[in-house]
Amino acid sequence: MRCPAARPLSLSVLGSSSLVSARLFRTDLFFRDLAPASTGLVLANHPACDRRFEQQATRCKGRKRLRGNALDHQAWQSGEGPSAAGVKAVRVCTKIWGPHGASATTLHGGPHRELPPERKSPMATILQISDLHLLSQPQGTLKGVPTSASLALVLQRARDAYPDPDCIVLTGDLSHEETVAGYELLKWHLGDWGERCLLIPGNHDNRTGLREVFRQVPGMSDEPIWFQSELGDWLLLGLDTHVPGEVYGELSAQSLNRLETALTENGGRPALVFMHHHPGPVGSTWLDKIGLQNAPLLEALLPRHAGVRGLFCGHIHQVFEGQLAGVPFYSAPATAIQFLPGSETVQFDLQPPGFRVIELDGDQFSTATVRLDHMPFTPLHDEVTIKLDQFLKLTGAVDTGGQAKLLIQGGEVRVNDEVETRRGRKLKPGDVVELDGESFAVDSA
Ligand SMILES: [Fe+2]
Ligand SMILES: [Fe+2]
Repeated sequence: MRCPAARPLSLSVLGSSSLVSARLFRTDLFFRDLAPASTGLVLANHPACDRRFEQQATRCKGRKRLRGNALDHQAWQSGEGPSAAGVKAVRVCTKIWGPHGASATTLHGGPHRELPPERKSPMATILQISDLHLLSQPQGTLKGVPTSASLALVLQRARDAYPDPDCIVLTGDLSHEETVAGYELLKWHLGDWGERCLLIPGNHDNRTGLREVFRQVPGMSDEPIWFQSELGDWLLLGLDTHVPGEVYGELSAQSLNRLETALTENGGRPALVFMHHHPGPVGSTWLDKIGLQNAPLLEALLPRHAGVRGLFCGHIHQVFEGQLAGVPFYSAPATAIQFLPGSETVQFDLQPPGFRVIELDGDQFSTATVRLDHMPFTPLHDEVTIKLDQFLKLTGAVDTGGQAKLLIQGGEVRVNDEVETRRGRKLKPGDVVELDGESFAVDSA
């Protein structure tokens, strides 16, 4: 069983059938150049379910992709790899990511060995955790709900029910104020689970800050975030729908191209796709205005890839099941406040916070949501606020959310006589915003 975790491991191959003491791993790299006419085989025992995982590595005609597992053997290429005697060391020199608590891995690089023709994928468990809205201050509240404390309760519930998930997908709105402090708080909450997390941003996130704290997030600075990971025979893909300065979401041309390519290469094998914004209507007027704006492009892509079994999103802070091009999509409850399904305007629901669990078995999956047994914090309906960037748009001081973001982060906006660089700064009636020598008073939100 592989897991998309983040800690690079060193791994040595000491012979054609030797035990390698290393943690379970996954990666999308390549397992190169086993000796001709041999087959690599990776074995792993999962500590939680006690199932053995076997992965055929290659048939050794030059480079061949190893689905889900890969080792980049530079030493192998330089002639230090297992010879006929098979005793020379090979050092893994690219990233091999292993989760906490995984078991030993054995690598055989010797004579050809066929795998049994009918092998089932091992069962795997994915937890989807969404819409955390962590604030810079751990004791901070959003609509009266202490989001850090609420997340702690949800994570404890998850750890009790699923002590050793294979993978945790965080589907955005992680740091409500887009601050590094919010991501650091998240990392602290995740603890050892942080290593097995896949992350994508929501509208409240900041890619640069996210990358600064979670080094496993690929790419640079504000580039769209993307993940591609394999779990058993399944492909997991994460799409970035964040549009700077906006609440709605969009898939960039780059993200759509990556998705198309990944699914084409996957060749129809089962895949799950994760994103923050909902890709179809959910029956709430206000939420349907701020979903995935270019969902028709995704809708047009999906019929070309029969392997996509399901789409998973956050953003709507409620449980919903819909369809896009015949593919089911599911949302997750937030770990903070919940929105009332079917509402015309923003209304809070009194459902407890929770998370979604997805279980893979063979080429099928099942999914369900898990909530706390009780509502730990009641949201305050009367907390009237508006975000700073939204306020600037509303007053006409800027034309777009992106423009507001640049001005705010550039230190050109003052709130109550102090420079404010957080575009998510909550304004209350009575606050005064200054930009370019003009003052705007907050009368209502
Ligand atoms: Fe959210
Ligand atoms: Fe959101």
